[in-house]
Amino acid sequence: MRIPGLLDAHVHMRVPGGEHKEDFRSGTAAALAGGFTALLAMPNTLPPLTTPDIWRQTQLRARRQGLCDVYHFAGADADHPDQLLALGRLAPALKLYLDETYNQAPRYTDAVLRRITLLWPRHKVIAIHAEGESISTAIRLAAECSRPVHICHVSRKEDIERISAAKKNGLPLTCEVTPHHLFLTQADAARLGALGNMRPRLADQRDVDALWTHINSTIDCIATDHAPHTLQEKNDPDKSPPGVPGLESALTLMLTAVNQGRIKMERLVELMHTNPYRIYGLPAQPDTWVEIDPTARFTFPEYPLRTKCGWSPFSQMPMQGRLRKVVLRGKTVYADGKLTAS
Ligand code: NCD
Ligand code: ZN
Ligand code: ZN
Ligand code: ZN
Repeated sequence: MRIPGLLDAHVHMRVPGGEHKEDFRSGTAAALAGGFTALLAMPNTLPPLTTPDIWRQTQLRARRQGLCDVYHFAGADADHPDQLLALGRLAPALKLYLDETYNQAPRYTDAVLRRITLLWPRHKVIAIHAEGESISTAIRLAAECSRPVHICHVSRKEDIERISAAKKNGLPLTCEVTPHHLFLTQADAARLGALGNMRPRLADQRDVDALWTHINSTIDCIATDHAPHTLQEKNDPDKSPPGVPGLESALTLMLTAVNQGRIKMERLVELMHTNPYRIYGLPAQPDTWVEIDPTARFTFPEYPLRTKCGWSPFSQMPMQGRLRKVVLRGKTVYADGKLTAS
């Protein structure tokens, strides 16, 4: 069976400055092994993608080294409106962090947030890391500035319900959930230890249930938040960074959900292809598709992982639904565990 090439609109490729965790070669190899033919990468790099120069250099490196299409968010430096204006002409979308997470500790005042928002092109999406109370701030921004706001990695019942209510009121809001928040709970976090540490944190079963309740309505996309860190970094007792890889497990997890009757195949394609392309306005890829065995069973991972970090919170999980082959612009780039892209 064929489905379109998937777009993951929330990944961390770690270029520049974190290439020991992931680089464009390893990250896009992991993408193809997971059925993703296009990525939209986050700006919380070292240095962050907050100047046109760094953004351009990084985009160029992705073009040279990547095995699939890679786009980049711009980051916002509120003290340099000129740079933000220039980035607004280059990047497909802006990313703002309202809560503390890896490499980000921003404290925007409401006034600064409004200034940033009004400098950004009116039609381009502002994606926001917002949890709990910050979700109200993000929704207020969409309402007061009438800008398209996308809320990243929604994880809790109260949060998805608040977003649902705001969308019903007609606000220009979209949102995504990650496979780890759909398939894991705090109980898994206890079992996984440092490997189960990410932002937002894994939640309760009632939160997971609420996300599945909204899978055919409020939720616009599935994005992996692929956030690789080395095992050595994760196991550091003092400063274990939050984040888990997700590119290679997302499709097979969602196919497993299809087999369990929790979601329809057409909806999977909307959440992982159609909607992210529409939201971010990215160009379609001609002659591009993924071949799957929709009901084949295996234990994850079927082949050695391609992500440089080399681990997954889903190791040893039974899956149903596997990827066979990926064709990008008419060329077979991945087939049965082997990369054939160049
Ligand atoms: C992400 C990372 O490692 O860059 N970590 C995470 O826990 N999700 C940052 C983020 O997306 O918040
Ligand atoms: Zn985040
Ligand atoms: Zn992220
Ligand atoms: Zn399409």
